[in-house]
Amino acid sequence: MTSELSLIDKAKFISAKRASQYVESGMKVGLGTGSTAAWLVKCLGERVRDEGLQIKGVPTSTRTAELAREVGIEVITLDQARWLDLTIDGADEFDSDLNLIKGGGGALLQEKIVATASDQMIVIADAGKEVGTLGAFPLPIEVIPFGLQTTKALVEETLVSMDVLGRDTTLRMNGDAPFVTDEGNHILDLHLKRIGDARQLALVINQMPGVVENGLFIDICDRVIIGFGDGRVEIRDLSEGRVATERFDFADTDNLFADLVD
Ligand code: 5RP
Repeated sequence: MTSELSLIDKAKFISAKRASQYVESGMKVGLGTGSTAAWLVKCLGERVRDEGLQIKGVPTSTRTAELAREVGIEVITLDQARWLDLTIDGADEFDSDLNLIKGGGGALLQEKIVATASDQMIVIADAGKEVGTLGAFPLPIEVIPFGLQTTKALVEETLVSMDVLGRDTTLRMNGDAPFVTDEGNHILDLHLKRIGDARQLALVINQMPGVVENGLFIDICDRVIIGFGDGRVEIRDLSEGRVATERFDFADTDNLFADLVD
């Protein structure tokens, strides 16, 4: 079945599959949002079903909550969990310090709250997400509906004094209407092209009254698991300063995951 997947989906799948091995019975686990995180949820559902893995999952979006329940993972709220052992999530970009841009799927607010409330955060990604400098992917920021155009203008004005290459901002749309997040807010995508000082930008953006949160995840991620379409998996661990490469055998998964691809 995995032979029917595109190379990029294979890469996403094996990074998720490898990350699922870090999850142990008894853990409270933050479940990310997006296509890579969806693989993770399916892999964990497999382990719940086949191995009796006992975990409680805290989803970062309604989409992920639905999928988690569907595959048999017990879902609890972050307030019920209070603190998590591990969060596993995708990313839109990561750099060599494992700083991230997230929010391509519009779930950055819950994702950041959940990841920050975890002992560890593991990012799962295909190799195309790695960048030398963050910013080619438009930076999402979550803004409240009240005074949206004023907040947008304030953000644009502030960007003039920031170390970025582009300054266009666009309101994310869902068809003809502005995209609405799970928290009832909107998303501005900042087309910055290159972010010279991500740490400073993250702090400055969050100072603005109409901004709820930005998609820069600075010093939050501990480990990135990178999948490649040819079956290689690279594990980069920030605290251990280590890179490990493994090879994943797709042949082993054909029966195992036949029911996971739909
Ligand atoms: C959602 C996110 C996702 O993790 C990010 O967009 C990556 O998605 P995908 O795994 O589909 O490429 O931040 O808000």
